[in-house]
Amino acid sequence: MPKKNQKYVYKNEEETNGGDIVVALELKDVSKSFAGIHALKDITFSVEAGQICSIVGENGAGKSTLMRVIAGAHAPDTGTVKICGKQMTEFTPSYAQASGVGIVYQELSLIPEMSVYENIYLGHPILRGILYDHKAMAEKCREALGEVGLGNISPHSMIKDLSVAQQQLVEIARVLVAEASILIMDEPTSSLSEQDSSRLLRLLTELKDKGKTILYISHRLNEVQQISDTIVVLRDGNFIEHNLAKNLKHREIIEMMVGKAVDRVDHMKKDTTGLPAILSVQNLCVKPRIKNASFELKKGEVLGFAGLVGAGRSELMRGVFGVDKPTGGSLVLNGKKIRHITPAAMLKNETRLCLVPENRKEEGLIFGKSVGENIAITYRNFNYKGGLIKKGLEDDVVREYSGKLQIKCSSTDQCVEDLSGGNQQKVVLAKMLSTKPDILILDEPTRGIDVGAKAEIHKIISQLSKEGVSIILVSSELSELALLCDRVLVMSDGKIVAEMDREITESAMLKEAIPC
Ligand SMILES: Nc1ncnc2c1ncn2[C@@H]1O[C@H](COP(=O)(O)OP(=O)(O)OP(=O)(O)O)[C@@H](O)[C@H]1O
Ligand SMILES: [Mg+2]
Repeated sequence: MPKKNQKYVYKNEEETNGGDIVVALELKDVSKSFAGIHALKDITFSVEAGQICSIVGENGAGKSTLMRVIAGAHAPDTGTVKICGKQMTEFTPSYAQASGVGIVYQELSLIPEMSVYENIYLGHPILRGILYDHKAMAEKCREALGEVGLGNISPHSMIKDLSVAQQQLVEIARVLVAEASILIMDEPTSSLSEQDSSRLLRLLTELKDKGKTILYISHRLNEVQQISDTIVVLRDGNFIEHNLAKNLKHREIIEMMVGKAVDRVDHMKKDTTGLPAILSVQNLCVKPRIKNASFELKKGEVLGFAGLVGAGRSELMRGVFGVDKPTGGSLVLNGKKIRHITPAAMLKNETRLCLVPENRKEEGLIFGKSVGENIAITYRNFNYKGGLIKKGLEDDVVREYSGKLQIKCSSTDQCVEDLSGGNQQKVVLAKMLSTKPDILILDEPTRGIDVGAKAEIHKIISQLSKEGVSIILVSSELSELALLCDRVLVMSDGKIVAEMDREITESAMLKEAIPC
């Protein structure tokens, strides 16, 4: 096993005018394939100690696979990885951890039914003799929580009682406790609000100032440019560029990621004043926090819902769709009062209402089935009115939507769980779009989705609204709401607190969203 935090110094005359640089990580010709898919091809670059290096690329570019190799979760087919000058001779998580690598995976990996300190020490408890030293673990955990800005959380709190943002910070505390010198963060801000993200980015800069090396993955390029010393661009498993962040322009990064220029959608906003309501929500109550929420969605409008994480936007939408049964209030769909609000009733209604949930992976996909099956099952369920559905028709739908959303897979027969995180999300979107809803509720539709596909989803939203589909867009990205919405409602603490229809600006939304 290598020694932890061992330093390796090499001289690079050209870059440092003869000075020493400490290299934390060196990758040479790293390749990895999965059943014929080249996830990584001959990746070579190195990262200096005490720097933040961001890895960017489209969904499926190979970012997570590369991070998993460094963290010992995947062995590369060929190539070498050196950590602080020592070549990894084993690709196991324990070897990588002992070398000083800590990873926060793309998907949260905490156990909800356990306490914060139990999660943090899972797999490497502090022992006193042969017994667990709970007191010492709780104490050390408290220190780490303080370091990540969670000083107000008890080490004994249950993970399930924490917000997503807090859980994300606990994950970081976990790698700090393990004394990682190289921290890998795979899309840590994808489910955080802009405020929580800024706090996390500040923390990363502080950790860097303390000498930690950080490998950072995000689809939010503004963040990447803000915090990185250097940026690595991957495309289709290939290494494209490694350069100082200050040398790269936003547009250049996108072009390198996508291989071509990406245009911003040119969305025409509507004046919704005279439009009829297609959905009217009256005094809806959804446990635990939504009390008497009332709003109208007009036909063909894009209605945004802004608010901080935890403001209750997803809860309200789950109530409107019937995933969580409302405890009071009513819902009128195209003039017809709906008595039993259930997902099946909403999907089978004459005016079809669909929700693409925030929690897509758990709620939206059938694992063990192919990409094509996942899309086709939904289409089949909601278009079957007795008689036969032609297989050819289903295949057309699968082709149309997997193409529209640029789902990256070897074929639509590929198992959905083998797709990259972002591509799994696109499958859920494709499923729902294939049902051709009249009302579409999109809860964070572009979270974790790359710039090219994001522009594509923006175009789809704009196009659907032009075709008369009424859309509710819940998003933590205020720029997305400002770009696409005809009207925005702002929620705070379970209530709708403001409505904006003319000057929809990021600062105005943020001002309303923050509770006094
Ligand atoms: N266990 C696996 N089995 C088969 N294929 C896989 C597996 N893991 C990853 N892949 C494939 O490798 C490629 C790279 O995936 P990876 O998860 O590294 O992408 P990514 O850049 O992290 O994308 P995202 O931004 O969507 O998270 C994808 O084509 C994916 O389908
Ligand atoms: Mg990934």
